[in-house]
Amino acid sequence: MVKYSCLCLAAGLLAILSEAKPQVYPRRASPIAIPGNVPIVYGRSDGCKSPVTPKVLILATYFDEANIWPAGMPEIYNLNVTVKGLMPNYPVVHCTAANGVCLMVTGQCVINSATTMLAMAHSDLFDLRKSYVMVAGIAGGNPEYTSTGSVTFARYAAQGDIQFELASVPPDWQGTSGYFPLGTTGPNQYPTFIYGTEVYEVNQALRHRAATMAKKAKLNDTAVSQEYRTRYTQPAARKSPGVQECDTLTTNVFWSGAGIGETMGIYYTAMTNGTGIYCSTEGEDSGWLAGLFRATVVDRADFKRAIIMRSISNYDRAPPGISDYDNLFRFQQGVGSYAIALQNLYLAGKEVVDDIVKNWESTFEKGFATKNYIGDIYNTFDEKNIDYG
Ligand SMILES: *[C@@H]1O[C@H](CO)[C@@H](O)[C@H](O)[C@H]1NC(C)=O
Ligand SMILES: *[C@@H]1O[C@H](CO)[C@@H](O)[C@H](O)[C@H]1NC(C)=O
Ligand SMILES: *[C@@H]1O[C@H](CO)[C@@H](O)[C@H](O)[C@H]1NC(C)=O
Repeated sequence: MVKYSCLCLAAGLLAILSEAKPQVYPRRASPIAIPGNVPIVYGRSDGCKSPVTPKVLILATYFDEANIWPAGMPEIYNLNVTVKGLMPNYPVVHCTAANGVCLMVTGQCVINSATTMLAMAHSDLFDLRKSYVMVAGIAGGNPEYTSTGSVTFARYAAQGDIQFELASVPPDWQGTSGYFPLGTTGPNQYPTFIYGTEVYEVNQALRHRAATMAKKAKLNDTAVSQEYRTRYTQPAARKSPGVQECDTLTTNVFWSGAGIGETMGIYYTAMTNGTGIYCSTEGEDSGWLAGLFRATVVDRADFKRAIIMRSISNYDRAPPGISDYDNLFRFQQGVGSYAIALQNLYLAGKEVVDDIVKNWESTFEKGFATKNYIGDIYNTFDEKNIDYG
């Protein structure tokens, strides 16, 4: 790895650009060992039997996202709760107190995040009916709308890989990749096969409150990230890290390239009736929202308290002159934005968490009122269909 100081910045960048071999990031082992055939002891570390009632449940999707919290908030280790049905390598939920802030690792991709969230909501060790559940994860960024290091808050999470996909497209589909909505004959049509998890819409007023709080944070930036941003022609991609309200796209596939990005953008517009714009792309939000949604239907959680916070660690497509291949393998994490994405997630997220805890009695305990539709694509929570995107 090339190390940077201010003085060797230019040389370091040249080294990155002239490096012929793509950099492959090694798969790292989980820091929490799976304890062989030693039986796991489920329950609370303080021995109490009553359910934990978090004011905020923070969701990390893997260990780097999880580790930013105890680093700044060591009290998150005050109470540990080992829960059945979570990720085998992350069975422990960490909490500041039984009615404080908790942190759970969902695992990555849609299946893990959905099943972990659902198992958590059905555990008798927790009562999540008043908990604000906030994902705090890193994501790819759409350079048309955001920049690396920025922290985004979404109203929608749409799942982009519930689609048809062709290996080669008809000539008049120029500018789009092979994805198009299920049950249709081409891009920019509303799907006719609906599976139910295509779009989730969360509390817009809560999202705005969270973004407003996050704006208090002084976000970090690095010279290397700044330089890479200048390679993009889109004004949004060239901006310094900021806090934005824009939407998220979930896919299991870790894709890279403008062709797929633009096709996903068309899909996003169709799925949200033109009201959603995806600026972040990740692998979990449709999943944990599906779990939280199902738990809400049976009164074990409150979907109206979901917050989607995603910071941008890389761009979902290459800048001019860089191939999709190199964008994926050489530039995803290698240009300094991974570190600031993690830091900014904590800096912004801490403001949101503190606001909820500090103003619990006055504002948050009773729930945060909003006017927008909240829920799934079937309008399960609102048969009158107010304002659904
Ligand atoms: C909770 O888990 C963390 C991390 O494994 C550990 O450092 C801490 O001591 C545990 N706290 C309690 C109260 O057991
Ligand atoms: C900003 O990020 C850089 C690179 O990760 C780090 O060295 C520095 O300590 C960070 N500054 C703050 C204030 O977090
Ligand atoms: C889509 O938006 C248009 C314009 O705001 C509105 O008239 C229409 O009812 C919306 N459709 C749905 C399905 O929400």
